[in-house]
Amino acid sequence: MTVESIIITQPDDWHVHLRDGEMLQQVANYTARQFGRAIIMPNLPVPITTAVMAAAYRERIVQATQEHSNFQPLMTAYLTDTIEPQEITTGFASGVFTAAKLYPANATTNSAAGVSHIKKIYPVLETMQDIGMPLLVHGEVVSDDIDIFDREAAFIDQTMLPLLKDMPELKVVFEHITTKDAVDFVTEQGDNLAATITVHHLQINRNDILVGGIKPHLYCLPVAKRELHRLALRKAATSGSAKFFLGTDTAPHAIGDKESACGCAGIFSAPHALENYVQVFDEEQALDQFENFASKNGPVFYGLPVNQGKITLKRESQQVQDRIGQDHLTISPYKAGESIPWRLLVE
Ligand code: DOR
Ligand code: ZN
Repeated sequence: MTVESIIITQPDDWHVHLRDGEMLQQVANYTARQFGRAIIMPNLPVPITTAVMAAAYRERIVQATQEHSNFQPLMTAYLTDTIEPQEITTGFASGVFTAAKLYPANATTNSAAGVSHIKKIYPVLETMQDIGMPLLVHGEVVSDDIDIFDREAAFIDQTMLPLLKDMPELKVVFEHITTKDAVDFVTEQGDNLAATITVHHLQINRNDILVGGIKPHLYCLPVAKRELHRLALRKAATSGSAKFFLGTDTAPHAIGDKESACGCAGIFSAPHALENYVQVFDEEQALDQFENFASKNGPVFYGLPVNQGKITLKRESQQVQDRIGQDHLTISPYKAGESIPWRLLVE
């Protein structure tokens, strides 16, 4: 029998780029209208490296999302080679930082100030292990001699495996995984390792980016891989394993920065995130697992309560807007102009 609607505990988004200034004003409520909480990425042009910066940024987000007053942004620290362990511990103890983010230097947008070698931040990571603070990892090696499609798999061997051996109690989220290699690795490791999965990596493979003309709006990092990896991600997300949870990696860039000779990485998937995710679970005949993936596994891993509220998703098609925002900051949302089969009902 076809399920016409589902009601689940309000979900959270465990990986979001909200930007700042005018772009923040444009995009923030798309996340806030759907999610109870969101983990906010710290890769602003001037990265969020101190608790004072994070508290001020959190306040700007709260201001921008006033119409959804229950929405709670959870802030992260941007790790650099020189960050002091004490900055992290005091920020975590005071409740400003929920987690810290590791960008390998130059791996992606605004990551130039990231970490040049994992060993440089071992003292910080040891402290985080002691206090139970999660480490969020952009898992790609940055090396001219490693093919872009192999960078996540190489990261597992070169960085993730040794790190987890050296710090067996450190809580780690392998962010936006894109490969069967990562699915298998996360599954085999202990409960201190989990992973987020984006909706676009559940829905597109590299052919969608490259066949019949290049689609800059489907380009992100880590880049979508071949079909066998997409299928492994769908299996993991819908499996019922508590190690996998929702993280959109919604990453808005103005159209001019995407449709360019050197286009930016990032997909703005926030507007219809839940509707696209639920479509995947429906197609996989796993609607009964959607609440675990979207609303329960994340908070359990982070040691936070699940949300109180409920949301309803209905089987009812709708068309995605062509454009969002204004003037030089206009964005092309994920699936612009396409019809999608589910709709979120908002009170
Ligand atoms: O595609 C991406 N966009 N991947 C990232 O890791 C960063 C993000 C952004 O900030 O634009
Ligand atoms: Zn991201």
